[in-house]
Amino acid sequence: MFPRLTIICLISGLIGIIQCNTIPHQLDIIIKSPSTSPQLIDDSDSKYKSGNNTDEAAARAFLKAQEIEAVKICRKSVQAEWNFASNLTEYNKQVLLETSRQSANFAKETWYNATSFAWKNFSDPLIRRWFKGLSVLGTGVLDGYKLNQLNEIIADMEDAYSNGKVCPYSAEPVTNKSLCNLNFDEDITEIMSKSRNYEELKSIWTQWRDVTGKKMRNNYLKYIELLNEAAKLNGFSDNGQLWRDGYESDSFEDDLEIIWNQFEPLYKLLHAFTRKKLIAIYGEDKIKPNGPIPAHILGNMWAQSWSSLGDLLTPFPNKPSVDITDNILAKNLSVVDMFRISERFFTSLGLKPMTDKFWKYSILERPSDGREMTCHASAWDFCDGDDVRIKMCTQRNMKEFIVIHHEMGHIQYYIQYKNQPYVFRGGANPGFHEAVGDTLALSVSTPTHLKTIGLLDEISADSEGDLNHLMSMALDKIAFLPVGYLMDRYRWKVFADNSTHSSLNRLWWEHRLRYQGICPPVRRTEQDFDAGSKYHIAANVPYIRYFVSYIIQFQFHKALCQAAGNTGPLYQCDIYQSREAGQLLSNVLSLGSSKHWSEALEIITGSKKMSALPLMEYFAPLIDWLKTQVNEDEIGWVSSDPMICP
Ligand SMILES: *[C@@H]1O[C@H](CO)[C@@H](O)[C@H](O)[C@H]1NC(C)=O
Ligand SMILES: *[C@@H]1O[C@H](CO)[C@@H](O)[C@H](O)[C@H]1NC(C)=O
Ligand SMILES: *[C@@H]1O[C@H](CO)[C@@H](O)[C@H](O)[C@H]1NC(C)=O
Ligand SMILES: *[C@@H]1O[C@H](CO)[C@@H](O)[C@H](O)[C@H]1NC(C)=O
Ligand SMILES: *[C@@H]1O[C@H](CO)[C@@H](O)[C@H](O)[C@H]1NC(C)=O
Ligand SMILES: *[C@@H]1O[C@H](CO)[C@@H](O)[C@H](O)[C@H]1NC(C)=O
Ligand SMILES: *[C@@H]1O[C@H](CO)[C@@H](O)[C@H](O)[C@H]1NC(C)=O
Ligand SMILES: *[C@@H]1O[C@H](CO)[C@@H](O)[C@H](O)[C@H]1NC(C)=O
Repeated sequence: MFPRLTIICLISGLIGIIQCNTIPHQLDIIIKSPSTSPQLIDDSDSKYKSGNNTDEAAARAFLKAQEIEAVKICRKSVQAEWNFASNLTEYNKQVLLETSRQSANFAKETWYNATSFAWKNFSDPLIRRWFKGLSVLGTGVLDGYKLNQLNEIIADMEDAYSNGKVCPYSAEPVTNKSLCNLNFDEDITEIMSKSRNYEELKSIWTQWRDVTGKKMRNNYLKYIELLNEAAKLNGFSDNGQLWRDGYESDSFEDDLEIIWNQFEPLYKLLHAFTRKKLIAIYGEDKIKPNGPIPAHILGNMWAQSWSSLGDLLTPFPNKPSVDITDNILAKNLSVVDMFRISERFFTSLGLKPMTDKFWKYSILERPSDGREMTCHASAWDFCDGDDVRIKMCTQRNMKEFIVIHHEMGHIQYYIQYKNQPYVFRGGANPGFHEAVGDTLALSVSTPTHLKTIGLLDEISADSEGDLNHLMSMALDKIAFLPVGYLMDRYRWKVFADNSTHSSLNRLWWEHRLRYQGICPPVRRTEQDFDAGSKYHIAANVPYIRYFVSYIIQFQFHKALCQAAGNTGPLYQCDIYQSREAGQLLSNVLSLGSSKHWSEALEIITGSKKMSALPLMEYFAPLIDWLKTQVNEDEIGWVSSDPMICP
C-alpha cells in the first residue's frame, strides 16, 4: 500500500514523474484579458480568500519567515518519501506518515496566516501573486475525520488497482486459481502489446476491469462527495473547477475544445487507417468498417498508445528501422551511458548539466540488494535545485531512452527555477513541466540525429523513411491525445453534475466513443466502473496536463527550431547544439510559475495561445499520405450503443 500524503505530490503513471511541493501552488494573475484566449482569472476573484490585515510590511515579513520554514519542511518530506519509495519498509512508511502529518499542519497554518492579510489590495503584483499561491488550501480544509476518510478511500482504490491480478487465458474456464497470478507491470502489459489473439485479449481486458474499477464504484462516489465538499470550502463550485484553477483561465475548457477541433481530423484519419488494417487481421465480423474499434486490440490496456501495432501500421516495412533498441544492445550501452547521452543533448544547448548529487543519489537501475521499491520512473526535487534525482528501473530500449529525456526535462526545470521563491518553483502550468523533456526528444528521435550520435547505422533519407518515422511518432502522440483529453473532461463532468452519478459507466463509454472511437468488446453495465481501471483515476491524479503538454511541445519545438535557424520541415528539425534555442527555453524555465503561463508561452512562441497547428504542421506529410490510404467515406464511426461494440 502506498501511504496517503497530505503534502501535494503529483504522481503521474503515464510516463511517470513525481513532483512534490509541500504547499499547493495556486497561481495569480493581474491583467484581465479582453477577447484573446486564454481569459485570465483576476486575483480579485472572491474564491481566493483574504482578510483585513492591510500591513504590507508585516506581510513581507511573514512571507520571508514562511519561506525558510517551507523549504525545510519540503526537504524533510521529500526525503521521507524518497526513503519509502526506494525502500518499502514499514519503518520508512511510519516515518513518512508522521512527516506528512507535520507538513499538513504547516500547510494549514500557512494558509490561515496568509489569508488574514488584505493581500488583494497590496501594491506589488509579485507579492499578490505570491499570496494567491498560498490562499488555496486544498483538501487540508476538511476536518480531521473527513480528511482521514478521504485519504483512506484513495488508499483503498489505489490498493485495489495495485493488487489487481488476472488469470491466464484458456478456452476452458480456469479452475486452478493459483494460476491467476498475472500482474500488470510485466505479464498483462506484455500480453496486451504482443498478443494478436482476439479472445485472449478480450479475456485479459475484461478481467482487468473486473478486479480493479468494478471494486471501486462505491468508494468513488464517496470520493467525489468529499472532494467537492473540500473544493466548496476553498471557494470553488466543485472539484473540477479547483483542478482547473492551476491553469488560471476562465476560458480553459473552451480553449481546449477549440484545440480538439483543430486536431480531430488527423486523429480520425489515423483511426480509419488503423481500423482498416485491423479488419484485415480480425475480420469484419469483429470490427465494423464504419464502427468504433474494439478497445482491447490496440496494443495497450486503455488504447492510449498504439506503438505495439507498429509492425502492422508501418507504411514502408522494407525500409531501415527507426528503432534504436538493437543498437543500444549491440553497442553494449549501459544505463548510465544512456543518461549521459541524454545529458549531452541538454548541455549542447547550453542548458545545465545534471548536478553531482544527481549522479551520486539517483537510482537508475533496479537495485540488486533485494529491497522492494516503487519502480515507476520519477523525477525528484529536494527543494534546493542541487539535490535532484531520478528514480527509474531503466530498461535498455528506445522507449526508455525517450523516457530518460522526459524525466531529465523535469530535472532541468528544477535546476532552472531554483532561485525563485519557493511558491513559484513549479511549471508555468503543469503541462509545461511535462513538455520540456518531450520537446527535446522530438529532436533526438529524428533519424538524422540518431545517426549523428551513432545510434542508427543506416537511415533512409527519402519520403518513405520520413513517413515511417512520422508513423512511429503518431502511434504515440496522436493515439494518445484523445485519452489525454477525455480523462479529465469526464471527471470535470462527474464533479460538476451529480445527476451523472447513477450512470458513471455510461458517461465513461460515451466519452470513449466520442473522442477515441472505441467500444467495449463485452457489454458494460452500471455494475462496472471502467474509469477506475486506469491508474490516475483510482489514484486521484489529474490528467489534462498531458494533453496540454502534447500540444505545446510542438509549439515549443517549432519556436526552438526557428531560433536554431532551421529552415526544413519540422519533423526533420534537430536543435542539437543550438545555443539560441537553449537560451530561449532557459528564459522560460527560470521563471518557474512566477508569471502566468500565457506570458511564458509568449516568450517562447510569440503567442499567448495554445494551438494544435504546429502539431498539424509536423505531421503534414503523414496526413497527406493517410488521405491516399483511406477514402472520405471510410472516416469516422457510428454506434447506437456505447456500452457494447456493434
Ligand atoms: C481593499 O480595497 C477595496 C477597494 O479599494 C476596498 O473597498 C476594501 O475595503 C479594501 N480592503 C481592506 C481590507 O482594506
Ligand atoms: C479582522 O478579522 C478578524 C477575523 O476575521 C476579526 O476578529 C477582527 O475583528 C477584524 N479586525 C478588524 C480591524 O476589522
Ligand atoms: C531500508 O530501510 C531500513 C529501515 O526500515 C534500513 O534499515 C535499511 O538499511 C534500508 N535499506 C537500504 C538499502 O537503504
Ligand atoms: C497537528 O495539529 C494538531 C491540531 O493543531 C495537533 O493536535 C497535532 O499534534 C499536530 N500534529 C503534528 C504532527 O504536528
Ligand atoms: C502563523 O502566525 C503565528 C502567529 O503570528 C506564528 O506563531 C506562526 O509561526 C505562523 N505560522 C506560519 C506557518 O506562518
Ligand atoms: C495449480 O497450479 C499450481 C502452479 O502451477 C500447481 O503447483 C498446483 O499443483 C496446481 N493445483 C492443482 C490442484 O492442479
Ligand atoms: C558490456 O558491458 C558490461 C559492463 O558495462 C561488461 O561487463 C560486458 O563485458 C560488456 N559486454 C560486451 C559483449 O562487451
Ligand atoms: C445533487 O445536488 C443537489 C444540489 O447540491 C442536491 O439538492 C441533490 O439532492 C443532489 N442529488 C443527488 C442525487 O445527490
